[in-house]
Amino acid sequence: MILDISPCAAVSEARLQQRHDRLGAIGATPRGGVNRLALTATDATAQAMLVEWAIERGFRCSRDEIGNLYIRREGTDPGLDPVFMGSHLDTQPTGGRFDGAYGVLAGFEVLEALADLGRQTRRPVEVVAWTNEEGSRFQPGCMGSAAFTGVFPLDRLLAAKDHDGITVREALAAVDRATPLTSRPMASVRPAAYLEAHIEQGPRLESAGATIGVVNGIQGIRRLAVRLLGVEAHAGTTPRAVRRDAVSAAVAVIGALEALLHDAEDVVRFTVGRMEVAPNSPNTVPSRVDFSIDLRHPDAGMLRTLGDRIEAVACDTARTRRCTAEVTQVSHVPPTVFDDSTVSLVREATRTLGYPCLEMPSGAGHDAMYLSRICPTGMVFVPCLDGVSHNEAESATAADLAAGTRVLAAALVALADG
Ligand code: HGY
Ligand code: MN
Ligand code: MN
Repeated sequence: MILDISPCAAVSEARLQQRHDRLGAIGATPRGGVNRLALTATDATAQAMLVEWAIERGFRCSRDEIGNLYIRREGTDPGLDPVFMGSHLDTQPTGGRFDGAYGVLAGFEVLEALADLGRQTRRPVEVVAWTNEEGSRFQPGCMGSAAFTGVFPLDRLLAAKDHDGITVREALAAVDRATPLTSRPMASVRPAAYLEAHIEQGPRLESAGATIGVVNGIQGIRRLAVRLLGVEAHAGTTPRAVRRDAVSAAVAVIGALEALLHDAEDVVRFTVGRMEVAPNSPNTVPSRVDFSIDLRHPDAGMLRTLGDRIEAVACDTARTRRCTAEVTQVSHVPPTVFDDSTVSLVREATRTLGYPCLEMPSGAGHDAMYLSRICPTGMVFVPCLDGVSHNEAESATAADLAAGTRVLAAALVALADG
């Protein structure tokens, strides 16, 4: 496989860094991170800045029915399916400046490098900012790519509500008003292939001294919602013997699930990240607790078996506290394996450019999980400091970010000329 790496020379480390600095300022937090929740005013501001940059370079911008943002550079044969690059602009509430942003800005830098050289590609090339990848404000996560690939019905996703009862549809209408864009129905375009650059969000590349991660897949992810129901009572007068305390039940249920999901090899990932108590008053025995479960495993069978046991354990344990449990599945994405052709292309691009690399699966979820169901898909990882992410201290070096972008450029050109 002989790759044309000439566009890589036009990838500008300085310009990429400067774009990260500008984007990181939108929703910046006092501790150096970013809070840019999906479809908020800060998300709209970030999109508007990207669109402004794109229009300056003569690229075409559009938005689809779920808010995915597309930046298109035409090919010599505009009738061909485009090659997509992309990631997400939304962040965690105490997120970092690189999770998601890097994949969008690396893709944009590739377009700029091609434009700087006047290098045409046969296929059109598009950079996509997928709506609500993080799933923090609205569930499920990877909402934009899930709608685009038909994993969830569009109407169901548009009806999803945030904590304040605002729907995706209402939030999206506000973004459309703030940053009007040409609409393009998601069904009107199918990518020939998809590439996503991302920070690893774990320590493996840094520990191995590798600059590039050639990603061969993504571990499976199940998200569930648990509701525990008891009875409100007076904190001072109600004996333990008759209490139906939903927090006491939640503590017992989470302890029982930790015991169920404990593995000596430390491969299972079990997280309770969100918990709400009602009526949330210090001197009333709580009647309701809602908490989230994020369960991950690289093996499809284990993920299914362990996830399927959660409901029985929650219900049985809740009963010991005279409470009831309701368990709802939010999403279940089995482990993803990327197709050999795209993984080989990323590997070959990395080798041709001479970067030390490590072939590895992704512990974090990405929109590539869903894109891989409709087209050849690959990912390029770069290291992040101490493997830290979903944390305001998230950091990556300009040199590594540029290296990953050069690998992305070489793989993109091969796909777009194919
Ligand atoms: O949760 C994830 O794995 C992704 O970073 N949103
Ligand atoms: Mn991400
Ligand atoms: Mn993330």
